[in-house]
Amino acid sequence: MRESRPVIALDFPSFQETKEFLALFPAEEKLYVKVGMEIYYAVGPEIVRYLKSLGHSVFLDLKLHDIPNTVKSAMKVLSHLGVDMTNVHAAGGVEMMKAAREGLGKEAKLIAVTQLTSTSEEQMRDFQNIHTSLKDSVIHYAKKTAEAGLDGVVCSAQEAQLIKQETYDDFICLTPGIRPAGADVADQKRVVSPGQAYQIGSDYIVVGRPITQAPDPVAAYHAIKEEWTRDWV
Ligand code: C5P
Repeated sequence: MRESRPVIALDFPSFQETKEFLALFPAEEKLYVKVGMEIYYAVGPEIVRYLKSLGHSVFLDLKLHDIPNTVKSAMKVLSHLGVDMTNVHAAGGVEMMKAAREGLGKEAKLIAVTQLTSTSEEQMRDFQNIHTSLKDSVIHYAKKTAEAGLDGVVCSAQEAQLIKQETYDDFICLTPGIRPAGADVADQKRVVSPGQAYQIGSDYIVVGRPITQAPDPVAAYHAIKEEWTRDWV
């Protein structure tokens, strides 16, 4: 099921800056936000409770990767925070992913990171000692993620179509690296526009700086949302 709201990456260093950003939006505008390691480790679980108290949906992007029992216990804690979606590294294995699901329960969505987009094929070969193409490795991890009973993966929009073919249609593809036409690409290497992301099969788009650093973040958010959902039937 596609999410019509772009997921805003709250990549801020402090609670204060996060609150100031959110205060730009009218109180009745319920957002879907991504809480990453920076703000979570700076503020703690309180940040999630705060966002939920405002009625926002929260994707907690902590990318857990540990032994199954530890991940299960951590997920149990996160489930009590009321997160709507969270994630693990698929590299932790099928047992770890199953344990994560058990700990989190069925209420929240659980997705996995396959290969980080910062990993090149050369690095994967030399460092991880995986001798296949990056694309095949991503597909392999996506299939294992589906096998473990998770809901989807974080992936580049370019991989979404293939991943769905190799898993199933409703398998979630959550895609960062989104830039509206003419926006600053910054450190993202391969970017697609919100409209392209829809055309090629993303279910959730994650957008950070094109919204958070825009002169008018609320207008930028609505423009991106409009482009993302324009052709929905
Ligand atoms: O500012 P920008 O739109 O590039 O932010 C994208 C967000 O998605 C950041 O929080 C970044 O860490 C995250 N992300 C990413 N690429 C991945 C996984 C996560 O850009 N492969």
